[in-house]
Amino acid sequence: MQRFVIEGGKRLSGRVSISGAKNSALPIIAASLLTANRVVLNNIPDLVDVRMMIELIEYLGAKVEFAHHTIKIHTPKLKRIDAPYDIVRKMRASYYVLGALLVRARRAKVSLPGGCAIGPRPVDLHIKGLRALGVDIDIEDGFINAQARRLVGHDVNLQGPKGTSVGATINVMIAAAGAQGETVINSAACEPEIVDVADFLNAMGFDISGQGTHTIIIRGQASTRDVEYGIIPDRIEAGTFAVAAALTRGRITIENCRPDHLTIILAKLEEIGGKMTRGEKTVDVRGYGRKQAINIYVAPYPGFPTDMQAQFMALLSITPGTSTIKETIFENRFMQAVELMRMGADILIEGDTAVVNGVRKLSGTYLMASDLRASASLVLAGLVAKGKTIVRRIYHLDRGYEKFEIKLRGLGACIKRQRE
Ligand code: UD1
Repeated sequence: MQRFVIEGGKRLSGRVSISGAKNSALPIIAASLLTANRVVLNNIPDLVDVRMMIELIEYLGAKVEFAHHTIKIHTPKLKRIDAPYDIVRKMRASYYVLGALLVRARRAKVSLPGGCAIGPRPVDLHIKGLRALGVDIDIEDGFINAQARRLVGHDVNLQGPKGTSVGATINVMIAAAGAQGETVINSAACEPEIVDVADFLNAMGFDISGQGTHTIIIRGQASTRDVEYGIIPDRIEAGTFAVAAALTRGRITIENCRPDHLTIILAKLEEIGGKMTRGEKTVDVRGYGRKQAINIYVAPYPGFPTDMQAQFMALLSITPGTSTIKETIFENRFMQAVELMRMGADILIEGDTAVVNGVRKLSGTYLMASDLRASASLVLAGLVAKGKTIVRRIYHLDRGYEKFEIKLRGLGACIKRQRE
């Protein structure tokens, strides 16, 4: 196992280039199985999860070349229609192959993903949506067994108990793209990654409109052409570097990002005391002061992303005053709090709300990463902590941040990767 060793106290400055969005890359690679035509994807981040998705589509029959952030995919014929437990347990997003397998083979068998560290993660909305398209689904021996003689477009409402679902919206959109007739997804999620998947499907020759709103219309048909497509930059990676600037009172120019996808994240940093200059594809973040406590209410896009609250918790833990974070999407997503408290943070968890009283300093110590974004939060805290911080189990972080420590070092951080 590997760990990061961080010497805190360096003010970060310089330029950092943002990689492609993990949460676009995974469904888009899976959606490439929809076609026997050739697919070229650019700006693909080199991440453990991306490598795992490639392994899965190769297992299913795709021929794949991946180099220099470009993937070439060609799937003239599917060899298999199942996503085995061993792959799904390592990467939940494996269920994105479900829709494409149904279009290509009319059958799919995908292991149920189960829960994960951040709480239960049901797939009932995925199943509801696919059933509406005429898919027969049985759950047997931990697998979703799905088959459909024909996929037929239909209206479906994907409102869940916690609001919209990114995964269900994408899975149903992919299946509906190759169905007969029109599907209208009501209460669709409208995250930028969903727009990206829809734009990719349109580039393949499918017909999707309304992406980015809560109503997506899909006129099912066949994919007609080879496609080359570049995916959007990762807004969570960009947000994480913006927090790093604020936290270390540094100045970071974040390049190759989409400032329009970062609206709420940058607004919250401004509320705390940071200053921003937004360009077309860059944001210059000056973390001149951590002046003002704030309240964060996590909500689906364009609300504050659940994937950014852990990083903000690190920042708020040394911002004077009392801040609150209300997490409305996942039930168990404050796991970084206990570790931050071991560094001296003053955090009280009351149900879905964290009350963070800013302290003057954090102290470095041994920390255990528990999930992807919690890991980022601990690394960020280590950057300002007094002394040495050792973050263990960083394989979580490698799932979602490309060359994180190398990019941080480029900004002046003192961080190295070590074997345990
Ligand atoms: C995606 C992102 C993840 C992000 C999350 C919320 C990927 C690979 N992952 O996860 O980084 O944190 O969106 O922005 O893109 N739900 C149900 N039934 C379902 C599906 C979801 O009740 O069938 C619930 C979930 O438990 C959760 C909420 O809906 O409480 C939102 O989940 P969802 O948007 O589906 O998250 P993912 O797509 O799994």
